[in-house]
Amino acid sequence: MRLKGKVALVTGGNKGIGAAVVRRFASEGAKVWSGDILTDKTKELADNLANDKGNIIHETLDVTSQTSWQLLINKIVHETRKIDILINNAGIYERRSIEETTEEQFDKMLAVNTKGPFIGIKLALDALKASGNASIVNLSSTAGLRGSFAVHYGASKGALRLMTKSIASKYAKDGIRCNSVHPGPIDTEMGHTAVPPDQLKERLYERIPMGRFGTAEEVANVILFLASDESSFVTGSEVVVDGGATSK
Ligand SMILES: NC(=O)c1ccc[n+]([C@@H]2O[C@H](COP(=O)([O-])OP(=O)(O)OC[C@H]3O[C@@H](n4cnc5c(N)ncnc54)[C@H](O)[C@@H]3O)[C@@H](O)[C@H]2O)c1
Repeated sequence: MRLKGKVALVTGGNKGIGAAVVRRFASEGAKVWSGDILTDKTKELADNLANDKGNIIHETLDVTSQTSWQLLINKIVHETRKIDILINNAGIYERRSIEETTEEQFDKMLAVNTKGPFIGIKLALDALKASGNASIVNLSSTAGLRGSFAVHYGASKGALRLMTKSIASKYAKDGIRCNSVHPGPIDTEMGHTAVPPDQLKERLYERIPMGRFGTAEEVANVILFLASDESSFVTGSEVVVDGGATSK
């Protein structure tokens, strides 16, 4: 059990990569708090995951709201006194060019993808320090490493990449590590939205040396490594999970 005794908070845990992380963490012995804005789905998933009873707690969380974060963090700290792992996974994507993007759409993209992790880290700091050995993983993207069609999405993920390094350098002395993960196209609802409608999947596959989408579980495996003590000397790093797409 690679996370035995650890307390984890995963945002956006109801589907896609987040749900794979929640399942994997619970199977590795962590107590997992999953926060998501989708309340109905939360109930459905909680029922589906009945086998992990007690190990997975589904709560409502809107990462753009400081009040929402505070309520959830208070609840966790009341019960466990600490948070060992914070996975900032909740995110949104829209396939829009800069000409098609309004100021409101830009603000919303940054509110979820960048401000969300900022508020979460800020409010969880005391609980993470209380761990003495904490790990934050921020879900950026290959779009946070190089230019992309959706300018607002790339901006949100590029900012998250550098926020990760700032947190890593400032809080290493407090026993908090912070790393970013940069997936390429992954087989989730979001991953398929990102495929241009006028572009056959086969053409996209040509741009990925491994010739396929990744799975949510393949990303969860990398996140598990960064969350666990196996990566104890890894902080401020960026791990690409893209089947080689950014290698060429
Ligand atoms: N799928 C990909 O191809 C891909 C590629 C690169 C990066 N990523 C990143 O990985 C992360 C997960 O992506 P995914 O493919 O699983 O997406 P997804 O759309 O399948 O799931 C995202 C989850 O985040 C939740 N969420 C959205 N807004 C929220 C909010 N305000 N508060 C709380 N929860 C909220 C959704 O309800 C959903 O459960 C995202 O940050 C995404 O940007 C995904």
